[in-house]
Amino acid sequence: MKIIVTGGVGFIGSNFVHYIYKQRPDWQITVLDALTYAGNRDNLKGLDENRVKLVVGNTCDAELVDKLVADHDAVVHFAAESHNDNSLENPRPFLDSNIVGTYTILEAVRKHGKRLHHISTDEVYGDLELDDPHKFTEHTPYNPSSPYSATKAGSDLLVRAWVRSFGVQATISNCSNNYGPYQHVEKLIPRQITEIIEGRRPKLYGTGENVRDWIHTEDHSSAILTILEKGKIGDTYLVGANGEKDNKTVIELILKLMGKNPTDYDHVNDRPGHDMRYAIDSTKLRTELGWAPKFTDFEAGLKDTIDWYKANHDWWQPQKQATEAKYAKTGH
Ligand code: NAD
Ligand code: TYD
Repeated sequence: MKIIVTGGVGFIGSNFVHYIYKQRPDWQITVLDALTYAGNRDNLKGLDENRVKLVVGNTCDAELVDKLVADHDAVVHFAAESHNDNSLENPRPFLDSNIVGTYTILEAVRKHGKRLHHISTDEVYGDLELDDPHKFTEHTPYNPSSPYSATKAGSDLLVRAWVRSFGVQATISNCSNNYGPYQHVEKLIPRQITEIIEGRRPKLYGTGENVRDWIHTEDHSSAILTILEKGKIGDTYLVGANGEKDNKTVIELILKLMGKNPTDYDHVNDRPGHDMRYAIDSTKLRTELGWAPKFTDFEAGLKDTIDWYKANHDWWQPQKQATEAKYAKTGH
């Protein structure tokens, strides 16, 4: 099996590459990544270059994508602009990477008759009230709130249309918030860990009652592999591990695990249009394909993640100052 992993030096993509490298030792992996601010070629350090090849290039480059797809069996498509706050400051790159990039991949897999798995987010469904007894399912109507989630929703709809109109062999997964190693310091959990390491206080948006449904990125990887190998063509699968926590609780837990007073954080400006709650019902993936998460203890997973950031200062430090300078401008 020869696969292309787009966005494979970003957070979730590189964790997936490491996972496949271990789980499927006979697979050849080609990473296609534009090395934007969010990509880091060091994420592939230590992997055998005969098995994992990095092609630096853009998913919007139709000629390059066509050539690569012709020579592989499947594409797992992670590449996207992924951060809500950035999409509120400058939406344009989200339209290019998330919409045009996905369109370009779809045209290539259509032409060459190759398998596609498209990675998406639960944010396409909008948000839930805190007391809503229902979670998101595969039948929840799309209702995205931000330029990020709107472009991800658009990319999902393109995939669905290409399946129906052109018979493209694709599946889609919509996952909840990931945590784990290699996540950019702009995101909630790594930002707070690295703020504390650098001697500053964590920053909570608004009241902090917003709820995210946390899943360890390795569980996301195992779900993707399961869908790639056993998923029904044309179907969508929701991926989640019953990890609902409000942001205030997450920040207090990080402080506690790092030996600080749990109330030692600052309230900062809220995010415009801030989604209140995400929650995933992953029954379909569990019952139809037999998937189950392994990292069910959030506190233990968070502790490992803190240890990873403590041990990998050289990995995150170069991005830290620019990230905080960007946040300072918006009062975040
Ligand atoms: P990330 O920002 O860490 O990584 C994105 C990677 O894609 C980077 O390496 C970047 O260089 C690359 N990239 C961006 N645009 C590109 C382009 N046009 N061509 C080639 N490469 C490009 O993002 P992430 O958090 O790893 O997210 C990966 C995917 O998973 C995204 O599709 C995202 O929507 C989805 N997702 C993320 C989460 C989450 O919690 N982070 C949850 C569910 C789904
Ligand atoms: P984030 O990691 O940006 O993921 P997403 O927007 O995809 O859910 O943010 C997770 C939650 O944490 C979200 O409700 C916004 C909040 N947040 C903070 O409270 N402080 C921060 O410094 C950041 C980056 C996010």
